[in-house]
Amino acid sequence: MADQLRYDGQVVVVTGAGGGLGKAYATFFASRGASVVVNDLGGSFKGEGASSKAADVVVDEIKTAGGKAVANYNSVEDGDKIIETAIKSFGRIDILINNAGILRDVSFKNMKDADWDLIFKVHVQGSYKCARAAWPHFRKQKYGRVINTASAAGLFGNFGQANYSAAKLAMVGFTETLAKEGAKYNIISNVIAPIAASRMTETVMPPDLLALMRPEWVVPLVAVLVHKNNTSESGSIFEVGGGHIAKLRWERSSGQLLKCDDSYTPGAIIKKWDQVIDFSNPQYPSGPNDFLSLLEDSMKMGPNDKGEKLDFTGRVALVT
Ligand code: NAI
Repeated sequence: MADQLRYDGQVVVVTGAGGGLGKAYATFFASRGASVVVNDLGGSFKGEGASSKAADVVVDEIKTAGGKAVANYNSVEDGDKIIETAIKSFGRIDILINNAGILRDVSFKNMKDADWDLIFKVHVQGSYKCARAAWPHFRKQKYGRVINTASAAGLFGNFGQANYSAAKLAMVGFTETLAKEGAKYNIISNVIAPIAASRMTETVMPPDLLALMRPEWVVPLVAVLVHKNNTSESGSIFEVGGGHIAKLRWERSSGQLLKCDDSYTPGAIIKKWDQVIDFSNPQYPSGPNDFLSLLEDSMKMGPNDKGEKLDFTGRVALVT
């Protein structure tokens, strides 16, 4: 038999694990030797109500199959309590899957503050609170794996989802920063934009398409990314669903550098517009310094009329 990726002795927290993708992650990791905290608030997909049933059913299923799991019923907004359950029950935390989510779809014209705020509380605040509480443990043990959950709606925008898409794109910046800050401590963070049949998608997609998108088919990528053997793939964005897996990255046009003197007017930009938006010779930036390094060329252009020039960090420095 071929070797399996295993997670023996590791503790995995899966938020929103009472159904859909979260349940698929939780049952998988338990079946591969991990102890799992099955968190779920148990409300509706719009974030109304609460019940312990969703998490309990999954914990029972895992235990019946011979696995180790404990339920947690807190909202991810109280992520510290979820991590506390991991520490109290199993003594550690190794892997955090920030998966819990809700929808409040409504056209932007009709969006209420409550629709916006609740989406941010669950997706952004919730992911932050769980990761923030896990972070000291990860640093201390020099080991941690994080998956955050974005969405194609966040990457590209989608009608009726201004709140959800803004919150989901926040997961990208959040992950990219965690990856940078965690690198020294062997903390690996990645973000996925999944697509899967669940109660969230069953009303908006046709049944034949849903049949091609089982939540179980998102799991293998997550399993690879959070495994201890993954020591390099961090801060990355993946789209995954129906067996297709693809990595995304930022692409920047080579752009146009204009001299910062009196000729630098709106009209000067319009004249160069074709070059500004020309992707024929693209760059693939991965950090803020990538843009600042472009300004090196502006230094070569010499001082402007005010006797100022941009230094390498992008600040305006006086030429003496
Ligand atoms: P789902 O509705 O089946 O599962 C989400 C789970 O999160 C539910 O069990 C729910 O009770 C739980 N939950 C909601 N609010 C919570 C809170 N405050 N605290 C704790 N648990 C809470 O949905 P699905 O499809 O499995 O979604 C999982 C994640 O994937 C979500 O973050 C969703 O936004 C994201 N996603 C899913 C896509 C899909 O095609 N299914 C597409 C893009 C993103």
